Amino acid sequence: MNCLFFFIFLISFLLSQSPTLSFHFYFCWRFRVHIINNLSLNNLVIDCISADDDLGRHELWWGEEFTFKIGQRPIGDTRVVCNVTKFGSNHITSINVFTNGFADDHCCKTGQCYWSARDDAIYFSNNNKNWNRWYNWTSV
Ligand SMILES: *[C@@H]1O[C@H](CO)[C@@H](O)[C@H](O)[C@H]1NC(C)=O
Ligand SMILES: *[C@@H]1O[C@H](CO)[C@@H](O)[C@H](O)[C@H]1NC(C)=O
Ligand SMILES: *[C@@H]1O[C@H](CO)[C@@H](O)[C@H](O)[C@H]1NC(C)=O
Repeated sequence: MNCLFFFIFLISFLLSQSPTLSFHFYFCWRFRVHIINNLSLNNLVIDCISADDDLGRHELWWGEEFTFKIGQRPIGDTRVVCNVTKFGSNHITSINVFTNGFADDHCCKTGQCYWSARDDAIYFSNNNKNWNRWYNWTSV
């Protein structure tokens, strides 16, 4: 493990010679994921799992958020999948809240991945300001 961290340190030092690469490397290493209940009426129930952890079941009140930090693995994919349900309805959807590829493409700039559950759909943002519709609700 120490060897691994030394290796990472060495690589990041070498990359720091190149401003663009080090920027990318720095921000693409550790992330924070946020899942926010922006539904107007319902609580939001989330069940999230990764390969290593069951993040458990959480019920969020209006305006509440569930957040966790996550690091990309040096080897292999890191993936967190959540089942997201509007409490008391048949609206559910399964969303990839984090994968290496998704984080590389969408969360690098800020190191943050924001998910907002709204009445009409689930939205994504990396800065908590500009939102895009990302997943539709499905009815079961
Ligand atoms: C999400 O829902 C699917 C379909 O009902 C189920 O197979 C899966 O185990 C659920 N995942 C979690 C993390 O609860
Ligand atoms: C979503 O909830 C957050 C946290 O309470 C709040 O700051 C934000 O303004 C809400 N966004 C919308 C679109 O309602
Ligand atoms: C999600 O819903 C919108 C509006 O109903 C629709 O235009 C869009 O095609 C849907 N997206 C998917 C992936 O089903």
